[in-house]
Amino acid sequence: MEPIATVAPPYWLLAELTYRCPLHCPFCYNPVGYAAVRDELTTADWLRVMREARALGAVQLGFSGGEPLQRDDLEELVGAGHRLGFYTNLITSGVGLTAGRLATLKTAGLDHIQLSFQDSTRELNDFLSSTRTFELKKKVAALIKAFDYPMVMNCVLHRHNLPHVDRIIDMALELGAEYLELANTQYYGWAMKNRAQLMPTRDQVRAAEQVVADYRARIGKRCRILFVVPDYFEDRPKACMGGWGAVFLGVAPDGLALPCHNARDLPGLDLPNIHEASLADIWHHSHAFNAFRGDGWMQAPCRGCPEKTRDFGGCRCQAFMLAGDAAAADPVCAKSPLRYKIDAAIVSATTAGRLAPVEHPIVFRTDANSRVASGL
Ligand code: FES
Repeated sequence: MEPIATVAPPYWLLAELTYRCPLHCPFCYNPVGYAAVRDELTTADWLRVMREARALGAVQLGFSGGEPLQRDDLEELVGAGHRLGFYTNLITSGVGLTAGRLATLKTAGLDHIQLSFQDSTRELNDFLSSTRTFELKKKVAALIKAFDYPMVMNCVLHRHNLPHVDRIIDMALELGAEYLELANTQYYGWAMKNRAQLMPTRDQVRAAEQVVADYRARIGKRCRILFVVPDYFEDRPKACMGGWGAVFLGVAPDGLALPCHNARDLPGLDLPNIHEASLADIWHHSHAFNAFRGDGWMQAPCRGCPEKTRDFGGCRCQAFMLAGDAAAADPVCAKSPLRYKIDAAIVSATTAGRLAPVEHPIVFRTDANSRVASGL
């Protein structure tokens, strides 16, 4: 495939350092079959990836996982990223973030930390993560403040904690958070496996939106609250990843280069590995990064749609999961002939205006469940 002639550089590099994680969240965005990925890049590999990404023009560098603190070389990688001129961001559950490590990360030049909570209550936080981490996360939040970082809190929302949104915001305010990201579950990976368990009702989503609007009016700039609406409840798709191969370059623990977090599960992409090519080559010339650039790949109704420059036809991974064709319109779009599939999922979450009971248990992210999913 010919590369698109004028490809802008990536804006950010996401370094998924490891799939190892002490938590077991049923909405984890790591691939369900992560247990089949055994080899992790070495420190030297990551240093080369960072140099090449910076030379390509990337300016933001996120360290995520799994839990990136599981890597002993995190401080070294952060320091190298900082010296290269990246704005560096750590995305963490907080597990492993001691005062000692935080001091070293600060000295290394870490710019920003995003700390996740699962809920405002110990019971639900610890149930969803299958760990006793609620109190620890609160201590880590205080440490982050003590080291003079802006406190950026993240909480994934779903049917179990949407009714707690007011208490989640109160907790964020108590902990001195400057930013709170309330990210409604997007249904990929483990979350797709647990969709029936996580899907809220439309009333839950609207009520939570109203709570957020009320808090925003009351607290002003004390804490900026971002409420990411679940795309299932919209009638137009999200501009996933800001466009395929447009701003995002992810590198997985085994060196696969990813145009989006979930690209590993898309068939036929022939994802490139950083062991086989330079990042510049991957970004500009690989089949995977060019597969959905521009609009030449689009089908009806996207091809003739005046909104295609805004939403790029939506999410390729969602199109594949729900339409069986990664080049189809994202079924979230009301113009898609498959929109009924989204509506059916919402209806099945709701019985007579209330949450429908779910028969089967939640599938937690565990190595054992991942091995089953990947046929090991
Ligand atoms: Fe892959 Fe949206 S998550 S394109």
